[in-house]
Amino acid sequence: MAVTIKSDREIELMREAGKILANVHKELEKVIRPGISTMDINKIGEDIIRSYDCIPSFLNYNGYPASICVSINDEVVHGIPSKDRILMEGDIISLDAGVIYKGFHSDAARTHAVGEISADAKKLIEVTKQSFFEGIKFAKEGNHLFEISEAIGRYAESFGYGVVRDLVGHGIGCNLHEDPQIPNFKQRRRGLKLQAGMTLAIEPMINAGRYDVEWLEDDWTVVSEDGSLSAHYENTVLITKGEPELLTMYE
Ligand code: MF3
Ligand code: CO
Repeated sequence: MAVTIKSDREIELMREAGKILANVHKELEKVIRPGISTMDINKIGEDIIRSYDCIPSFLNYNGYPASICVSINDEVVHGIPSKDRILMEGDIISLDAGVIYKGFHSDAARTHAVGEISADAKKLIEVTKQSFFEGIKFAKEGNHLFEISEAIGRYAESFGYGVVRDLVGHGIGCNLHEDPQIPNFKQRRRGLKLQAGMTLAIEPMINAGRYDVEWLEDDWTVVSEDGSLSAHYENTVLITKGEPELLTMYE
């Protein structure tokens, strides 16, 4: 599939989708506390998404059974919400959500602390977020895609962290996953040339330990093989001739 360049109208709709998703994350962040179940978080998230007349894009995507991916501690991504999974003080929790607004997708993830967490966990969350920002320094028309990948990886690896290799970011638009794939570490080639109007979901997934991951028996939940903590940070990004526009940013 070719990489799509969005028209002005399409960009406007993606901006709207992004704003809505930013609000979903902002609201969801407030409900995180010890004692809440991951199913409760999913339900609250789905209700917020629907309150904006949006469709939760993850629900039933390739059979995924929920609207919000909730991944705790050594879980990297795609954790399945459960009423029996209760957040505990000291956990770190990644929330990944996607919405469809008037046919256009937005996708974003954040990792949060549950109550007080260790200094090591805080650092992992911060570095993962910063690796995204290191990457998007290169997200500009005329640059090459894998400059973003390399910058993300270089930064995260400088802390001794493992940059997950088996999962990647992606183009996004009328579909949740479009070309190109966006790895989070250095590639042999420089990748495609970036053009204004491309919309990309850039999403570093970083393990405190080694980069290897494995899939649990549910065929969804990805965990770090060594059991180390893992963090995820993602925004939907519009490429322009100048600074990139972060469509799902809030704060
Ligand atoms: N943010 C995830 C991604 O970019 C989407 C979750 S996959 C789903 O791949 F199946 F859970 F929807
Ligand atoms: Co994504």
